[in-house]
Amino acid sequence: MDSMNILVTGGAGYIGSHAVKALYEEGNQVVVLDNLFRGHRKSIPDALPFYQCDLAETERIQSILLDHSIDVVMHFAALTYVGESVQQPLIYYRNNTAGALSLLTAMDAAKVKRFIFSSTAATYGEPEEVPIRETVQQQPINPYGWSKWMVERILLDYCRSNPQFGFTALRYFNVAGASSDASIGEDHDPETHLVPNIIFAALGKNDQFKIFGTDYPTPDGTCIRDYVHIEDLISAHILAMKALKDGDQKFYNLGIGRGYSVREILNATEETLGAKIPTIQDVRRSGDPAMLYASSEKIQKELGWKPLHTDVHDMIQTAVQWHKTHPNGYGD
Ligand code: UFG
Repeated sequence: MDSMNILVTGGAGYIGSHAVKALYEEGNQVVVLDNLFRGHRKSIPDALPFYQCDLAETERIQSILLDHSIDVVMHFAALTYVGESVQQPLIYYRNNTAGALSLLTAMDAAKVKRFIFSSTAATYGEPEEVPIRETVQQQPINPYGWSKWMVERILLDYCRSNPQFGFTALRYFNVAGASSDASIGEDHDPETHLVPNIIFAALGKNDQFKIFGTDYPTPDGTCIRDYVHIEDLISAHILAMKALKDGDQKFYNLGIGRGYSVREILNATEETLGAKIPTIQDVRRSGDPAMLYASSEKIQKELGWKPLHTDVHDMIQTAVQWHKTHPNGYGD
């Protein structure tokens, strides 16, 4: 396929930066937009056009879209902490929901017709059945999930009004790992995610790893999640982008279709490192469902997506490499 002109919003974030890298390496014209609230300028190549710009700046985004003759927008820019969304719902609705609306308004004015949206498993809430299929009823249980769910709704309505528009919304499960060459990886502040926190305890950056809850109704008492490697997640975005057609309104889960418990991830990290990790058992973290994992049959069947990093050790190894070689993350 010919190279495309792609605007990546949130391109300096964990997931966005891996998308930028893959799209650039494929020979596309990549333009990066990020307000650098939590993103890292150092995570994207200097050579690429970069705009420090907030999603609220509709007219500026419209100019960027026109100036670079953008064909497709990949929209990663968002706030993503569930707990923070409960404390500060308004900033989640402003950034994630109103921000997406502003971006779509700019796209509408600039006649950009293709959109890939980062949605989330949090739009499902706590479904009664696993594996979770796309058709299960969505019932978010926190403002973060609602803020993304609302964008899904907006996209459906907008698409119906503009038959030339086409979108794919990818509902991520738990994203982990780093680029295989360890040049970019995960650098959150604060870091709340499981895999980096286990590694921080292993490397002595944190005193210990805390297991949040050991009394869940799961085989080993700890929560089960579906961990998808960042590079597999991005390959799905590229497949989705290439497949997009006028009028498309697609929703796909992005997980590998297998759950791992917190203890299994801990054990796999200890095996990968060949060392015991100082661990304590702590109380449940509020709002954590016991078990979430995806059915990703739909994307595998319709887009031919095939995750390559299905061995969890392999995923952890890439994260370990990144943290070992970047003990202070991007250092900014
Ligand atoms: N956990 C620990 N100790 C830690 C960190 C996490 O035991 O130090 C546990 C959590 O309690 C949970 C599991 O590890 O059971 C995974 O936790 P993460 O924070 O890594 O991921 P979540 O499943 O909570 O969150 C993920 C995404 C969010 C998204 C959410 C939607 O990372 O961005 O799914 O359900 F909002």
